[in-house]
Amino acid sequence: MRKAKKVGVLTLLMSLMLVTACGSNNGATTKENANQPDKTTTEATVATDKKIVFGFSQVGAESGWRTANTTSIQDSAKEAGIDLKFSDAQQKQENQIKALRSFIQQKVDVIGFSPVVESGWDTVLKEAKDAGIPVILTDRSVDSTDTSLYVTFLGSDFVLEGQKAGEWLVEEYKDTTDQVNIVELQGTTGSAPAIDRKEGFEAAIKDHSNLKIITSQTGDFTRAKGKEVMQAFLKANKDIDVLYAHNDDMALGAIQAIEAAGLKPGVDIKIITVDGIKDGFQAASEGKINFIVECNPLFGGQLMEAVKGVVEGKELPKRTVTEEGTFTIEQAKEALPNRKY
Ligand code: AHR
Repeated sequence: MRKAKKVGVLTLLMSLMLVTACGSNNGATTKENANQPDKTTTEATVATDKKIVFGFSQVGAESGWRTANTTSIQDSAKEAGIDLKFSDAQQKQENQIKALRSFIQQKVDVIGFSPVVESGWDTVLKEAKDAGIPVILTDRSVDSTDTSLYVTFLGSDFVLEGQKAGEWLVEEYKDTTDQVNIVELQGTTGSAPAIDRKEGFEAAIKDHSNLKIITSQTGDFTRAKGKEVMQAFLKANKDIDVLYAHNDDMALGAIQAIEAAGLKPGVDIKIITVDGIKDGFQAASEGKINFIVECNPLFGGQLMEAVKGVVEGKELPKRTVTEEGTFTIEQAKEALPNRKY
């Protein structure tokens, strides 16, 4: 009885070892399968070689900056071998929310987006989090207090941009106590760059009571709206000294309105802008824009690195700020031939 039990245990152990050896596919190749692909290895290769699927929702195509940003993202995804699912929100938050939900449904590996406006994202970001899909913010941020809803945010410091614009103005008018009438063309209402560029600019000029913003309105970051609003500004105000535009495109539209009114942009009305697109540099070289604060859209490469990093489980910095400069007329003239966007 005892002996029979021992034999039974031994048989069981031997058959278990055999099953394990066959199942483990431990590198031994039999004659029959010598020329067949190793199933386990093939599956592993497919798993590691599988293209990362990255869903990206872009704000729109409202400005030269945005076009350069889109090109940078699309080219960099191609170079990195990332399968980019690109969606254009046409400056509408509801379109962006729809796009994010569609990415979640498609089970993409990573979601990225540049939020049209700052608020109203918590619900959809929670949906992405619940689905286990990491989210990367680019260019613009959200005002959510729960920072666990996104893994990293890559983009400019818009408050600093506004501050640089204001500091230039303070320096430019340091020798006068006369009132300086400033008109402001704001970016899209509720967007991070519009809010922050206004805040930074106002903070920089606040101790100089002669520097006065006499009127401020949105031009939605577009050339057409910049022109239209500037026409209205010129009609309502006789003595405009300075235009502060939150981007080049609005300033370029405003320049058309200023010239049509028989005034000289850059001379009769000093102009400060943000972005630094080629057309802005061209206008600055002609003396029509006096000061440009750079905002760099060419971060596609950095974004793809972040996408790969997230998939590989790397810890990413919560915030990466893009490096940017400023340009006077002389500096713009010098830099124009090599301007990349
Ligand atoms: O968010 C960046 C801003 O959006 C750019 O300054 C502007 O041109 C764009 O539309």
